[in-house]
Amino acid sequence: MLKKTKMKYKKRKLILVITGSPGVGKTTLAKYLSKILNCKVINEREFALENKLGKWNDEIKEVEIDIKKMEKKLNEKIKKENRLIIEGHTLCEAKINADVVILITLHPEILEYRLEARGYNYEKIMDNVFCEGIEYCKKHTFRNYPKDKIIEIESQRSFKNTKELVIIRLKEKGLI
Ligand SMILES: Nc1ncnc2c1ncn2[C@@H]1O[C@H](COP(=O)(O)OP(=O)(O)OP(=O)(O)O)[C@@H](O)[C@H]1O
Ligand SMILES: [Mg+2]
Repeated sequence: MLKKTKMKYKKRKLILVITGSPGVGKTTLAKYLSKILNCKVINEREFALENKLGKWNDEIKEVEIDIKKMEKKLNEKIKKENRLIIEGHTLCEAKINADVVILITLHPEILEYRLEARGYNYEKIMDNVFCEGIEYCKKHTFRNYPKDKIIEIESQRSFKNTKELVIIRLKEKGLI
């Protein structure tokens, strides 16, 4: 019986967006949840490049995504998919037809350490730390998505603690 219920959950349509500033742990969480929720994962940056929705900017060493075009293309894709996780920091600026949006936040000081560990240059680290400090992603997420669909998670020092928090919130929403 329990097995049947679990199977039902795993077949039900589920479109989940994960967003938050660069380095807060979106990809790590997406990979973990893809196994638990039986979902495919799309990374916004890869999707934008594959679909020619973005250009590599050599000056800032980043892909510049045309957000409106990406939004349109992703919303088209969602119609054809059953279970999908889409992750990326510019998704906070888009309106994706998702069932749930996980917004990850992180204390700017911890974000600074994480980005340093990645070898980012000082300017890029400060840009991202500043964005997190002014809650850029959070403000845009709450502007673009219905409040009842947003799960806000403050990233913990360990991924184990973070994922436990996420699981509790997904259970509350009846998704697992
Ligand atoms: N909850 C966590 N606690 C500690 N470290 C974490 C946590 N989540 C992720 N990390 C680590 O932080 C780093 C950044 O994680 P990740 O690549 O998932 O971030 P991201 O949000 O996808 O970044 P980007 O926006 O640049 O793609 C990785 O080294 C990862 O192992
Ligand atoms: Mg990532």
